[in-house]
Amino acid sequence: MVTVGLTEVLAALSLATDLGSGFAPEKGLRTCLVALAVGGQAGLDDGELADAFQGALLQALGCTAYATENAWHFDDDLAFQRAMHGLDVSDPVSLASFGSWAGAKRGAELRAHFLKIAATVGPQATQSSCEASRALGTRLGLRPNAIAALDHVHERWDGLGIPGRCSGTSLSVAARLMHLAAQAVIAHSTGGAPGALTAVGQRAGGHLDPELVALVLADPDPLVAALETADPLAAVIAGEPPPKARVDRDAVDGLAEAFGDLADLKCRFTLGHSRGVAALVDRAASLAGLGDDARGRLRRAALVHDVGRTSVSTGIWERPGPLSAGESDQVRRPRMSADNEVLARRFFDELCNARDDSVADEIIAADYVAHGPQAPPAEGPEGVKARISVYQDALDGYWDVQEIHSAGDRVVVRWIGRGNHVGELMGVPATGANVAVDAITILRIADEKIAEEWTVWDALGLLQQVGAMPAPA
Ligand SMILES: [Fe+2]
Repeated sequence: MVTVGLTEVLAALSLATDLGSGFAPEKGLRTCLVALAVGGQAGLDDGELADAFQGALLQALGCTAYATENAWHFDDDLAFQRAMHGLDVSDPVSLASFGSWAGAKRGAELRAHFLKIAATVGPQATQSSCEASRALGTRLGLRPNAIAALDHVHERWDGLGIPGRCSGTSLSVAARLMHLAAQAVIAHSTGGAPGALTAVGQRAGGHLDPELVALVLADPDPLVAALETADPLAAVIAGEPPPKARVDRDAVDGLAEAFGDLADLKCRFTLGHSRGVAALVDRAASLAGLGDDARGRLRRAALVHDVGRTSVSTGIWERPGPLSAGESDQVRRPRMSADNEVLARRFFDELCNARDDSVADEIIAADYVAHGPQAPPAEGPEGVKARISVYQDALDGYWDVQEIHSAGDRVVVRWIGRGNHVGELMGVPATGANVAVDAITILRIADEKIAEEWTVWDALGLLQQVGAMPAPA
């Protein structure tokens, strides 16, 4: 029986919930790492740590359940959710800045509206997000105590949370860790480690469990290390408390359905959309005579195809009438980003590594220009092929992509150039040395082709590795 790690799937879903709750990617991953670190300090056993791990990773699982209503009340559901997560209702300064996303005048109106409806609409909204978390959490196979912690996402230590039914130690330790970790991560994004420590310190005994805060302040190193982990995805996967949860490969369809449902809840016009697309795709694949593997891949792709929708305000999705140019750009951006990253991936995988020169004509613009002081200049598809062949020949090069990010029409790729020095390079005859050189490339995409490139790489390191320059002592 082929199985896959449940945490890998949950981590991907966590990234989708970051989009749906208006936060930068990896907020859920870092919240999970902080909860794990502080839970370790508190001496929790593996079962309790696993509850906190899953709860913190998916604390925003219900993020899209009330998106339509939030957009209706507060113009922008994503800005509202961001504000809610950082809001301290016991702090007048925190309350006074609520609504700032809409400008001074409209912000004041939204603040007044919030205060007017918080006691009545707040519990309804929380209940619907908790119901969504519980339903999705059960289908995902989350631990029962992790699902219970998700019910307490908006509760507080002092009982001033929503719905306000639990306080103090009647909140599970998983929930209390989740609260602390989330506040640390939110404050860290603007104030760094000092800001995170100040924020949790200020909330001790109010929002947060004072004993957990005291543990953190007495020894902040584990929390700071968790906040500043270079690769949070890898750290979450490696850090899952034992035993590692695994699911049958056949169950992945059910997990993919949870992604689709999360995306479809974003807008009242799209409920059931992803499942409908998946059923249609599956039927088309069947009629086309595709095998079970291909059908399964297509079905799962259909189930997750609209996850990017969650990153756009429901106020835009549900706007009657035409969108402004800026709103249209927001709607197109997730699709554009994904397409641009695929182009970058093809550049490195197919053109550079698989050495399929025909790909250059497909993905490189006729007026492409490469910049960068360390490689031969290049123009157009032919220039790219010539530029790459230098390293394919001299180093038997392999472009080992480490990470890809995109924004607007740019894609940023960090990669390591690996190889064996088998031919002359930069005037240095072959030495047979193995090399590994850090590099960063920015690509500009226009009309679905790569139009411009800027690359810098560690030329000095390469020269040292092939013995052309002395290495530092
Ligand atoms: Fe769709």
